[in-house]
Amino acid sequence: MHLPERCNFTQLFLVICLCFFSLVSFSTFWHLQRKNSYSWWWTISVKNTSGPPKHEHTTPSVSSIRNKDGGMWTVNSIGRLGNQMGEYATLYALAKLNGHQAYILPAMHRYLAPIFKLTLPMIPSELVGKIPWRNYGLHDWMSEEYRHIQGKYVRLSGYPCSYTFYHHIRHEILQEFAFHDYIKEDANRYLLQIRGQRKTVTYIGVHVRRGDYVHVMPNIWKGVVADKNYLDKAMNYFREKYHDAVFVVVSNGMAWCKENMDASRGDVYFAGDGQESSPGRDFALIAHCNHTIMTIGTFGIWAGYLVGGETIYLANYTLPDSPFLKVFKPSAAFLPEWIGIPADLSPLLPKS
Ligand SMILES: *[C@@H]1O[C@H](CO)[C@@H](O)[C@H](O)[C@H]1NC(C)=O
Ligand SMILES: *[C@@H]1O[C@H](CO)[C@@H](O)[C@H](O)[C@H]1NC(C)=O
Repeated sequence: MHLPERCNFTQLFLVICLCFFSLVSFSTFWHLQRKNSYSWWWTISVKNTSGPPKHEHTTPSVSSIRNKDGGMWTVNSIGRLGNQMGEYATLYALAKLNGHQAYILPAMHRYLAPIFKLTLPMIPSELVGKIPWRNYGLHDWMSEEYRHIQGKYVRLSGYPCSYTFYHHIRHEILQEFAFHDYIKEDANRYLLQIRGQRKTVTYIGVHVRRGDYVHVMPNIWKGVVADKNYLDKAMNYFREKYHDAVFVVVSNGMAWCKENMDASRGDVYFAGDGQESSPGRDFALIAHCNHTIMTIGTFGIWAGYLVGGETIYLANYTLPDSPFLKVFKPSAAFLPEWIGIPADLSPLLPKS
């Protein structure tokens, strides 16, 4: 009786060992599967996207988009070039501050990737709707609470465009907005052609925002757009400072520019097509100049930021009680060293 019992005990012990071993290996396997499930799914999705995007933008390698523990942060893709750049740079900076991996939506990729050598990977369209995003609204300047945004899957929203989000990593942001070579070459070719036989030239990029703003500013925001007087003052500042200054003008209201900008000295070049059909080309032109005159809008703000020379901007272009000042903080939009020329608000005042 004694012996068989011992035998049973040994058998039992072996069975327990076997069970324990199976349990451990199964749970390890299951855990690994779970961890990798995103990556597998993703690898397949990436393979399925049709062809490489135009203009040599490299599709991020599968290893770079393996979803590690960083979760996935993104930002809405709204507005035109200047806004898209502001959204991209803000996402880049805030994701980094909060320790998460940033990805851009396909719409932003379509907008920016043909122009710049971006490094943030794109979320495949078929994945966008499957992610449990936490929407997080931003106002237009950096705040302390943005250093502690909770969530692994965050979609930032708003129209952020302020150096206060990303000036501490300026060099990385400039790297993100490095132009593709063919755009760079195109801009340099144009600038060289303007130079002609002159030995030296100081290029001043001028962006004159018109279009919808001509109506939107007075009607909705109690504000004005840049007028002839502002442009004269800004251009004369540079003419006095640099004897070899030439002005490269891009605008979505070129007819107005030709009528209102004094080109009699032969130093003003109306560049770009003025049709908004090639914002990347217009933007590259003034971004390759040495200094900047902007009027209003994020397109000009970004040109000044990338150029890094002297920037003249239109200051105080709304009435003090304008609702615009609730969503736009001038001190967070214009760098302190930029030069403001106050706008003439008299067209907004009741005629006495
Ligand atoms: C001014 O811009 C031109 C064109 O981008 C560039 O070749 C030149 O080096 C710049 N000049 C200075 C002083 O930075
Ligand atoms: C804009 O207005 C503010 C407040 O009145 C003033 O402090 C500032 O100097 C003005 N800016 C310019 C460039 O005139």
